[in-house]
Amino acid sequence: MLNSLAGPTIVGTLFETASPDDLKAQYCGVHMWREAIQQVLISEAELHCRIQALGRVIATDYQGRELVFVAVLKGALMFSADLARAVDLPLTIDYIALSSYGNRHVSSGQVHILKDLSESITNKHVLIVEDIVDTGISLRYLWDHLMSHHPADLNVCALLDKRARRRVELPIKYAGFDVPDAFVVGYGLDYQQRYRNLPFIGILHPEVLTPEP
Ligand code: PRP
Repeated sequence: MLNSLAGPTIVGTLFETASPDDLKAQYCGVHMWREAIQQVLISEAELHCRIQALGRVIATDYQGRELVFVAVLKGALMFSADLARAVDLPLTIDYIALSSYGNRHVSSGQVHILKDLSESITNKHVLIVEDIVDTGISLRYLWDHLMSHHPADLNVCALLDKRARRRVELPIKYAGFDVPDAFVVGYGLDYQQRYRNLPFIGILHPEVLTPEP
């Protein structure tokens, strides 16, 4: 099924013959959005399997402790929902919304809180649930923000780790997959707010990206 959505023959032929503007018109339109995926990097089955494994480890580590997920919107929407169901413990989930990319594909370096915590995390065992750590700038900002609320402890679970682009280091206690330095979308990750609902992680065809100034 996935191959038929991002088949190399169709995509390859069109990308070889069409102009960049034609490609954007075709692949960023409402009809052919899945064809903008150059390659399926992590399949739906692989995501499921890894998230179940992460859930088991987290359940073991947090046994007997009051666990709070702080999931980072919008990217971690799918991951946090699936991870929470894979952790066989009582836990609570709070959401914080950050933005550092907006509609761009290069980090602005400026992180904004669009929605803050709803519940107190003071003296709680807090796990940040992120879809991806790229430069690390968002995570650094969030870490400092959450630490100012004095949790009992704070750790990070990130589905994807793009180490090649790291500018700020923080320990990621639970990591799902290492990913290469390519623009990945799907399973919560977007480009210009689209592709979040793809059930797999895919690499977006570079031709689709609008050049950054
Ligand atoms: C993405 C992602 C992470 C952050 C990682 O968020 O969800 O929070 O970027 O990038 P960094 O390590 O370079 O800081 P984005 O700002 O795109 O918002 P979104 O989650 O709403 O898509």
